[in-house]
Amino acid sequence: MTEKNELKHIAIIMDGNGRWASKRGLPRSVGHKKGAEVVKEITKAVAEKGIKYLTLYAFSTENWQRSAEEVSFLMSLLRQYLKTDLQELKENQVRVRFIGERYMLDNDIQQMMRNLENETAHFDKLTVCIALSYGSRQEIIAATKKIAQSVKNGDILIEDIDINLFSAMLYTKDIPEPDLLIRTSGEKRLSNYLLWQLAYSELEFTDVYWPDFTPEELQRLIDNYNTRERRYGKV
Ligand code: IPE
Ligand code: IPE
Ligand code: MG
Repeated sequence: MTEKNELKHIAIIMDGNGRWASKRGLPRSVGHKKGAEVVKEITKAVAEKGIKYLTLYAFSTENWQRSAEEVSFLMSLLRQYLKTDLQELKENQVRVRFIGERYMLDNDIQQMMRNLENETAHFDKLTVCIALSYGSRQEIIAATKKIAQSVKNGDILIEDIDINLFSAMLYTKDIPEPDLLIRTSGEKRLSNYLLWQLAYSELEFTDVYWPDFTPEELQRLIDNYNTRERRYGKV
């Protein structure tokens, strides 16, 4: 209770864009647009706090099942974000990473993602990891296939499979596990986000819709986190 918990990595499920817009009688797309602006603001706030990693859930594998109209709007917003906002991150020496099933995204988007990752790979102040077309169960299955193949090839033994080896097969292999998970919009579920990586993370839920999320609300959740006792099964 007295000492501050270490806070190296915050993961966020940015939820509630659609409801934020509907509540105002606006199309869902307006909520997504406002949500993208909040991403910028919150990224800046996280950088100022000296936190090293921020992982943002931007689009899930399940989100592909939304209407063609909504998916195509989100992709156009993503293109814009990759072109302008993320370039700004580059200027601020932020390392940008992507996790997810990228082969499902259009080629030009994949190319922009690769370029940004390469151009920012040497920065070490803040790493912003964007989960795009991301699904944790899919990630775990992909890791399992890689491990099975390595065993089949004789590169590793079944006995070599442990937590470290498994973690090293995930998209997040070089990123520490989140200390704090935040989900906005009042929903209390993980929606296929970082199932393995969140095993011992502290969870904070807020009713605020993502487009209304502020640096002050973020600080309130961090203050809550700081009062937690992280026991990891010990006493
Ligand atoms: C989060 O907001 C953004 C994405 C999932 C792309 P939603 O679009 O899920 O908004 P709600 O949950 O319907 O309000
Ligand atoms: C999770 O939100 C995905 C993102 C925030 C990108 P959803 O809105 O898709 O999740 P569910 O459908 O409420 O579980
Ligand atoms: Mg939602």
